Amino acid sequence: MGQLEVRHFPDGETYLRALSEIKGRSVILICTLDRPDEKFLPIVFACATARAHGAARVGLVAPYLAYMRQDREFKPGEAVTSAVFARALSANVDWLVTVDPHLHRTHALQQIYSTPSRTVHAAPLLAAWIKVHVPQPVVIGPDSESEQWVASIARDAGAPYVVLQKTRQGDRDVTVTLPDMGQWRDCVPVLVDDIVSSGRTMIEAAEQLLGAGMKAPVCVVIHAVFAAQALSELRSAGVSQIISTNTIAHETNAIDVTPLLVPAIGELVGP
Ligand code: R5P
Repeated sequence: MGQLEVRHFPDGETYLRALSEIKGRSVILICTLDRPDEKFLPIVFACATARAHGAARVGLVAPYLAYMRQDREFKPGEAVTSAVFARALSANVDWLVTVDPHLHRTHALQQIYSTPSRTVHAAPLLAAWIKVHVPQPVVIGPDSESEQWVASIARDAGAPYVVLQKTRQGDRDVTVTLPDMGQWRDCVPVLVDDIVSSGRTMIEAAEQLLGAGMKAPVCVVIHAVFAAQALSELRSAGVSQIISTNTIAHETNAIDVTPLLVPAIGELVGP
């Protein structure tokens, strides 16, 4: 394991120094990208420094890949940050490994990332967790985008699934509508989403389920961004449990994605 010293000068600029021998080595930077703005420049400096000291290649493992959601100009003048960020990162790293990037209108990472990449999927791990920990689950996706992973999780967990309808009016303004849940009344609803950020999607979905007389939902999330008060607000919504994968270090982490990452890194790192 190599070492970098990273700190900030009093004026806020980044100081970075490679403390390990890099010459001729394939360097693997591990940096998940929640709160990405403060991490991006240190990544750029680390890549450049590794190359300046003779790195053969420099790859990035970002278990959570940021800037995947603003993938079009919804209002005139908006920055399409997913494409801009993809170009900037691709210009710096020789390859990229990530877990379940938020692919919606962009169907594959390769559409916006020119650097070689591997995407691994946490769905089988989520399904295995649900199978062991939740008796009689019904897997619930809060919006149509979630159907892609909810369907496969439900299949692997041997459970039925339901996809809700979501409308987002603003960052913290979300409306979720439920189909008739009558036939699932005896099941434990397991809300599954790729990201919890403001928490509004999960909170609205949980409140609707509880309002429809369902049992307290279990929340399972891949990327535990949990901005500001999202975790306490979700807890207050009456859910029974909140668990996440460790793509972002968080107190809700219960599922380790390392076994998914290792083979993908092996494919890209080269001899
Ligand atoms: C939708 O685009 C995503 O799959 C998540 O549902 C969404 O990003 C969650 O965001 P928030 O927690 O802010 O509602």
